[in-house]
Amino acid sequence: MNASKPSATAAATAPEQSATTGRDSLSITDNRTGKKYEIPIKNDTIRAIDLRQIKANAEDFGLISYDPAFTNTASCSSRITYIDGDAGILRYRGYPIEELAEKSTFIETAYLILHGELPTRDQLSDWTYNVTHHTFIHESIKKFLDGFHYDAHPMGMLISTVAALSTFYPDAKDIFNPDSRRKQTYRLIGKMPTLSAFAYRHSLGMPFAYPDNDLTYSANFLNMLFRTTELKYRANPTLERALDVLFILHADHEQNCSSTAMRGVGSSHVDPYSAIAAATAALYGPLHGGANEAVLHMLLEIGSVSKVPDYIKSVKAGQHKLMGFGHRVYKNYDPRATIVKHIAYEVFDVMGRNPMIDIALECERIALQDDYFISRKLYPNVDFYTGLIYQSMGFPVTMFPVLFAIPRTAGWIAQWEEMLLDPEQKIARPRQVYLGAPKRSYAPIDDRG
Ligand code: SDX
Repeated sequence: MNASKPSATAAATAPEQSATTGRDSLSITDNRTGKKYEIPIKNDTIRAIDLRQIKANAEDFGLISYDPAFTNTASCSSRITYIDGDAGILRYRGYPIEELAEKSTFIETAYLILHGELPTRDQLSDWTYNVTHHTFIHESIKKFLDGFHYDAHPMGMLISTVAALSTFYPDAKDIFNPDSRRKQTYRLIGKMPTLSAFAYRHSLGMPFAYPDNDLTYSANFLNMLFRTTELKYRANPTLERALDVLFILHADHEQNCSSTAMRGVGSSHVDPYSAIAAATAALYGPLHGGANEAVLHMLLEIGSVSKVPDYIKSVKAGQHKLMGFGHRVYKNYDPRATIVKHIAYEVFDVMGRNPMIDIALECERIALQDDYFISRKLYPNVDFYTGLIYQSMGFPVTMFPVLFAIPRTAGWIAQWEEMLLDPEQKIARPRQVYLGAPKRSYAPIDDRG
């Protein structure tokens, strides 16, 4: 069963009756007491709170579910993104990722993810105008960037500066005002590329290149990154389209680690800039969005195609993970990785072939026929090939997770807003299983040890 499957089925139709008895419930017998309980099943799930009634003694708290890392727990219901990990399916608001990657743009896909429907021509024009006219950042933000060392990691700079935006927009605290949320959405989607490009330029010691409102979302980002002395930056159309499709692929991905951080931090009713900073920090980790950076380091460490078999042996011996492989939900090829692989060759046609691709392809070739990976259903994920593209486009490895955070901002905001407006949601506060010390008395220091 897949995490998304029941909600997608149920959201579209009345809850499916069971194939056999027609009774959608669990019959539980507590063998400690012999008592029997009926727990309703809906959307292929049971409500954890329904377990609380099961007690061995009247004074017990009642049963709770225990699920470290939430491997089999739905934290919310959602209508944004649907994933079928067994079938390798990804849809934003019902639209297959393959169709959006082929026919849409990132700015249009961001609208879809946030509003639930593809925009009309007027809606797209209005949306694009508003995002485009919120790309500038307060000049004081440059002082924050000046405080960083030249070799500061751009994700550290991005986390810090997006959090700092919360101090410039105190109106963002009015989170239940839809007009305020809309304004912060324009600002966040518009300014994340600017903060990212400014961080990059700071690391090079180059002057900041300001936004150009005549350009598309992705072309303007390339402009702020790479413009030098030319008055008007002209993006290579192949690179502009490649980056835009990569942004589409990274826009949302259901309840991943960083979306969970966004929802969890946002559930305290903090402003969205602070919540986005938390989500960006979660994405930074090498097991999540930082994996694209880790993949490049891994390929550099392997060094040549001939050394791949030995590296794979070290992975199977547990010395390393094959970064860019495996996924909590996809137990099949990540559909995004398939599209990324095609984009790579389009970029290589313009920028020259990245020799690292041969090492990556050999890793994939060996892994996909090795039982260690097959038995664990480890396939390339979205991060396996993206770094090769970014490197060919001239990005330093440290910028790779930043290129993930920019488009994911649309998904994080959509998840945050859905959480805020969901009457079932409240501040996130899980339980624990306490295994610590029983009650004991304070001991004077000379009586310890
Ligand atoms: C992203 O959640 C999302 O949707 C994330 C994302 C998104 O768009 O938001 O898709 C983006 O984060 C993609 C994932 C990027 N991370 C990596 O590529 C890092 C390498 N991958 C692994 O760390 C791992 O596969 C995870 C973190 C992605 C998933 O980990 P799980 O689901 O907790 O699986 P696990 O660690 O329990 O692994 C199960 C088994 C273990 O072996 P055993 O203990 O059973 O012997 O598979 C092994 C793991 O050791 N394993 C790997 C491996 N990934 C899992 N072995 C070698 N190399 C790997 N990459």
